[in-house]
Amino acid sequence: MKTKYAIVGIGVRGLGMFIEPLVKEYNDVAELVALCDRNPKRAQVANNRLGTNIPIYTDFDEMLDKEEIDKVIVTTRDSYHHKFIIRALERGKDVISEKPLTIDAERCQEILDAEKRTGKKVTVTFNYRFTPYVTKIKELLKQDILGKIYSIDFHWYLDTRHGADYYRRWHGEMKNSAGLYVHKATHHFDLVNWLLDQEPRRVFALGKLNFYGANRQQRGERCLTCEHSDKCEFYLDLKTDPALKELYLDTEDGDGYFRDRCIFGDRIDIYDTMASLVDFSGGTQMCYSLHSFSPFEGWRMAINGEKGRLDLSAAESFYPENSPNFVDRTNNLAHQDPLKVALGIDGEEESDVIRFYPTYGGMELIEVPRVKGGHGGGDVRLRDMLFRGYSEDPLGHMANSWAGAMSLLVGAASNQSIKTGQPVTILEMVKK
Ligand SMILES: NC(=O)c1ccc[n+]([C@@H]2O[C@H](COP(=O)([O-])OP(=O)(O)OC[C@H]3O[C@@H](n4cnc5c(N)ncnc54)[C@H](O)[C@@H]3O)[C@@H](O)[C@H]2O)c1
Repeated sequence: MKTKYAIVGIGVRGLGMFIEPLVKEYNDVAELVALCDRNPKRAQVANNRLGTNIPIYTDFDEMLDKEEIDKVIVTTRDSYHHKFIIRALERGKDVISEKPLTIDAERCQEILDAEKRTGKKVTVTFNYRFTPYVTKIKELLKQDILGKIYSIDFHWYLDTRHGADYYRRWHGEMKNSAGLYVHKATHHFDLVNWLLDQEPRRVFALGKLNFYGANRQQRGERCLTCEHSDKCEFYLDLKTDPALKELYLDTEDGDGYFRDRCIFGDRIDIYDTMASLVDFSGGTQMCYSLHSFSPFEGWRMAINGEKGRLDLSAAESFYPENSPNFVDRTNNLAHQDPLKVALGIDGEEESDVIRFYPTYGGMELIEVPRVKGGHGGGDVRLRDMLFRGYSEDPLGHMANSWAGAMSLLVGAASNQSIKTGQPVTILEMVKK
């Protein structure tokens, strides 16, 4: 029998990650029976694109009353996840939630309590766990390649294309997203928690808004009406991007959601430059940073243990030319290591490399073939497990609500630490 899904939140993620694949690729095992969004025009885009006639609701409870649903998928803005997760659990549905589980400790506690009370389950979609590169790192650590792990250096760079995009939308306001420490870094903290198989204990953090927000005089409300558009390196013309136009520009009269708000607006109150120290239940300590106006996008990690060190890095995007024009940066994207581009080694990379340095010398290279697809091939692997089910999950890829909590709380604790100037103990923030 097919599992019946309903989804709330029909934005780019809901559509690309869940709605299209459910309708086109998983229709032998799954049926998408209802769409819910406070802006029905955006939900209608889904039906138009797919040639479907899936019932649309603006009232979540009405959808649950009228449709026969087994599982609810939550892909709204982060600050509302808890509302739909809790309501669905209370109505006897299991839930698949996009990350972050929610944005603060209070809402997190409400979700954990509701799950306990109802006996239904929440799964959090941490797609980065599923990329072949990260999966290989997990395998190596499980085989005890490093012995006891003492420390991790982990640095994530968001660029002036994708990174800037967070500031155009609701993500730029603490009340909606709790900032990139929660919205984005929940991925990163989850990776570390999962790779180490430890829980974070204590955090001390710094954060600043150095580049975006009111750091530039020349600004407007949104790109569409901005007098500085011809001079701005971030000018986004929604009219020239058919997908953004259809989903956001053409639907904005339904809810006033502007997809091209100014990244230098006063409303922006999140940090763009972040650094934290975290210690873990097994004794490991981490030095983490997130920088969101980098010339390239990707991450670097080193895991230092008793038997050696794993040196890791993944290049996500790089613009081979200096491009002060946003559209050029978008069009000139390459998934390449900037150094290889400088050395004239062309072409998309076919593998990522893990470097293992044994403690007393030498180096071993472990190549991991790249796969195509969103988030380094993580999205499709995650979907297969979610929708086709699994009898085995030897590395524990599928994340539950506690994993969701432990990752978002490192970010929430970081926000708190920045405010108080003091370290924050994570386990005091929620009860299991
Ligand atoms: N795992 C990943 O790699 C990844 C990538 C992108 C986004 N996400 C997550 O997916 C979610 C959606 O992101 P997006 O980029 O599609 O956002 P979006 O703003 O483009 O879309 C969100 C949709 O939710 C709707 N919505 C918001 N609040 C609502 C409410 N109270 N009731 C009903 N509908 C409501 C909006 O109208 C909009 O259509 C976020 O939680 C984000 O963190 C995850």
